[in-house]
Amino acid sequence: MIRRILLSCMVLIAINASAQQPTMDQFITKLMQRMTLEEKLGQLNLPSVGFDVTGPILSEDVEEKIKKGLVGGVFNTFTPVAVRKLQDLAIKETRLKIPLLFGYDVVHGHRTIFPVPLGLSAGWDMDLIKRTAIAAADEASADGLNWTFSPMVDIARDPRWGRVSEGSGEDPYLGSQIAKAMVQGYQGDDLRKNNTILACVKHFALYGASEAGRDYNTVDMSRIRMYNEYLPPYKAAVDAGVATIMTSFNEIEGIPATANKWLLTELLQKQWGFHGLIVTDYTAINEMIAHGMGDEKKVGELSLNAGVDMDMVGEVFIKHGASLVKEGKVSIAQIDKACRRILEAKYKLGLFEDPYRYISEERNKSAIMNTDKIALSKEAAIKSMVLLKNQSQTLPLDATKKIAFIGPLVKDRRNLIGSWSGAGDYKKAVSIWSALEQQNGHKFLYAKGCNLIDDPALRKRLNDHDGQIQAEAASPEQMIAEAVQTAQQSEIIVAVLGEAFGMSGEAASRSMIGLPENQQTLLRALKATGKPIVLVLMNGRPLTLQWENDNCDAILETWFGGTQAGPAIADVLFGKANPSGKLSMSFPRNTGQIPVYYNAKNTGRPFDENQKYTSKYLDIPNTPLYPFGYGLSYTSFTYGEISLDKKTITAKDKIQVSVSVTNNGSYDGEETVQLYIRDLVGTVTRPVKELKAFKKLMLKKGETKEVSFSISVEDLKFYNNELKYAAEPGKFKLMIGGNSKEVKEVEFELK
Ligand code: NOJ
Repeated sequence: MIRRILLSCMVLIAINASAQQPTMDQFITKLMQRMTLEEKLGQLNLPSVGFDVTGPILSEDVEEKIKKGLVGGVFNTFTPVAVRKLQDLAIKETRLKIPLLFGYDVVHGHRTIFPVPLGLSAGWDMDLIKRTAIAAADEASADGLNWTFSPMVDIARDPRWGRVSEGSGEDPYLGSQIAKAMVQGYQGDDLRKNNTILACVKHFALYGASEAGRDYNTVDMSRIRMYNEYLPPYKAAVDAGVATIMTSFNEIEGIPATANKWLLTELLQKQWGFHGLIVTDYTAINEMIAHGMGDEKKVGELSLNAGVDMDMVGEVFIKHGASLVKEGKVSIAQIDKACRRILEAKYKLGLFEDPYRYISEERNKSAIMNTDKIALSKEAAIKSMVLLKNQSQTLPLDATKKIAFIGPLVKDRRNLIGSWSGAGDYKKAVSIWSALEQQNGHKFLYAKGCNLIDDPALRKRLNDHDGQIQAEAASPEQMIAEAVQTAQQSEIIVAVLGEAFGMSGEAASRSMIGLPENQQTLLRALKATGKPIVLVLMNGRPLTLQWENDNCDAILETWFGGTQAGPAIADVLFGKANPSGKLSMSFPRNTGQIPVYYNAKNTGRPFDENQKYTSKYLDIPNTPLYPFGYGLSYTSFTYGEISLDKKTITAKDKIQVSVSVTNNGSYDGEETVQLYIRDLVGTVTRPVKELKAFKKLMLKKGETKEVSFSISVEDLKFYNNELKYAAEPGKFKLMIGGNSKEVKEVEFELK
C-alpha cells in the first residue's frame, strides 16, 4: 500500500516537473516533430565563413542558406559583431529559430597565445594546462564562440609530421592526462555558463601515425597497437565528458575514418558510450572520392551510415541527404540521430534559452588579453621550456658580461605565436630583444646573422600561406661576416635559431628536420670564433641536433612560446626562472632513426655490443639524442633507492612506492618524477617501459622530499591478443627517474 502511494507521488512529481520544464529529450523530440527532412539535414551542415581556411572553399551563399534553415553552425566567424549578424539570421529569419553553433580552432589560446601544444605538454603540468584551456574558453566565448576544435590528442612518433606541434607527443599516458585536463578546462563543470565552450577531441583516429610522417597519408596498424598505444587519449577525453569529436582524414584498416562504421559506431558509440556530436574534418567526406570510395553521393551515404553527424564544409548532406533517404540508402532514424546530437549540443550550451549568450561587447573588452591571461602566457612559456644541454653551467647568463644575441629570431614576433594561432595577433607578442631592452636597457650586442630561410623554393611555399619570411638586401656572406664581427666583441654568444612557424602545423611535413641549412652555416661560423655558444631554439617539432649538441655549450628549447615568449625566455636565460620542462617526444639523432620512441618493444635480439646479429644501426646508437621525459635544470637532482611496502600484490590491494629526491645543486628548482613499469613476461610482447605516473615537485636548494605513488592492478592492465583488457600475473619492473632513460629500478610481482 505504502509502496503504491509512494509510486503515485513519484509519478505526480514527474508529471509536474515535466509540465514545468521539459527535459532535453522532450524538448528536442518536440522540436524535431516540427522539422522537415530538409531542415533536419540543414542542422548537419557546418560551413566556414570568414577569416581562415585550411582547404578548398566550398561554402557559398552561407547567409542565404542560414535563412533557409540549411545551416546548423558555422566556423571561422568570431567577434561579437560578426557572430551576432549570423545568429540574427538564424533567430529572426528562419521558420524554427534554431540558434547556430559557432566553432573555431582555438588550439593554444584564442587571442592570448600560449606555447604550441607540444611545448605546453613539456610542462607536464595538468593544472597549468587546464588553466590555459579555461583562459582560452574565456576569451573565445567573449568573442562570440561556443565551440573549439581542440584538443588534438593524436599520439605521434614521427617528428617529420608537422602536426606533432599541435599534440602532446608520443606517450599514451601523458597524452591521456592532458586530454582530460584540456576537456575539463574548456567545458568546465557547466556548459551553460557564458565562459565555457564545447571541446572537440580530434582527430579520430590514429591521424598521428601517417606513413613517413607525410600529412593526410595512409595509416595502417594492428588493433592491439591501436588499443594499447594510440586510442587511450581519445578514450580519456570521452571519459572526461568531451561534447564533440572530429573524424580524421586518414584511413583505418582500409576505410577512411569518416566512413568507418566500426570506428565511429561500434567502438566510439557502442563500446565507449560516446553520445556527443561527431563532426567530420574539413571536407573529409568529399575527400573520400579521391580515396577511391565512390562518388559524392556514395561517400555521403557511407559517412552517415558510419555514424557521422555533422559535415564540415563539404555540403554533401544537404545536397544528397534527401535522396539518400528517399532511396532507402540511409534511414530517417540515422538522420534523426545526427540532428538530435547537434540540437543536444546547442541545448547543453543553453542556446535555446538565450542564443546570444556568448555575445557580449563588455565581456569582450574585459576578458580578452587581460593582465591575468598575459601573466598566464608567460608562466606557460617558462614552464614549457626544456633545457637540453648546459655544459659547465653556461646558463644562466651573467648580465654583466658582454653578450651577443645573434640570429633571425632575436627580434622576431611573427613566429613566436606558432601555427594554429588564428585569432592571435603577433604584433601583441613580445620579442626576446624587446624583453631584454625592457629589463636591461640597451646593453647587449646584436646581429641578425642570416635570414630565417634562404632556400627560395621553401620561402615561396611558406610565404604563399602567410609565412611572411623576408630576405635582407645584404648577401648571406655579408650577414655572416657582420655576425662574426659582433660575436668577436662579445664574451658569449646567444644564437636564437629555429624553424619558421609555418614549418610545422597542418600540411607542413619535412623530410629533414634539422635547422635550415643557412642557419647551420651561421652557427658553424660562430663556432669558429671560439666563443661559448648558447643556442636558443624556436620550433614546433623535435629537431635533429647532433652537431648542435656536440658544438654548443648550452641548448634551450623554447618551442613557439606564444604572446609572452620573449619575456619568458629572458627570465630563463638570466636565471630569474629555472627551466623545468621535460620532453614529451624523443628527439632523434637523425631522420633515418625515425620512428624512435621510449616505449618500444625489446625484439628477440636486443642490442648487444659484443654480438653482430643484434638489433642496431651500424652508424648510430639505437637511443635518441634526447629521450622522452628528458630535460635539465639549473640545479641538479639525485634520486634515492626505490622502496616498496610489499613485493607482491594481488588484484585487490596496492603497492605503496616511495623514493626520496634531493636538490643538490645551487638553485631552487622543479623536478618531474616519472614512474615507469615493465611487464616482464606476457601472453603478448610488452614495451620495455611505460609511463604510469608522475609527480611534479618544487625543491629548494639542499632540500630532500619523499615522493610516493600507489600502484594497483589497474596500472598493470593492457589489451591482450584478444583485445581483452586485463593484467597478467607475474613479475614487473618498476622504474623511477627524472627521464625515461636514467632510472632506478626494483621488481615486484602480481599474484
Ligand atoms: C582541418 C584540420 O585538420 C582540423 O584540425 C581543423 O580543426 C579543421 N581543418 C578546421 O579548421
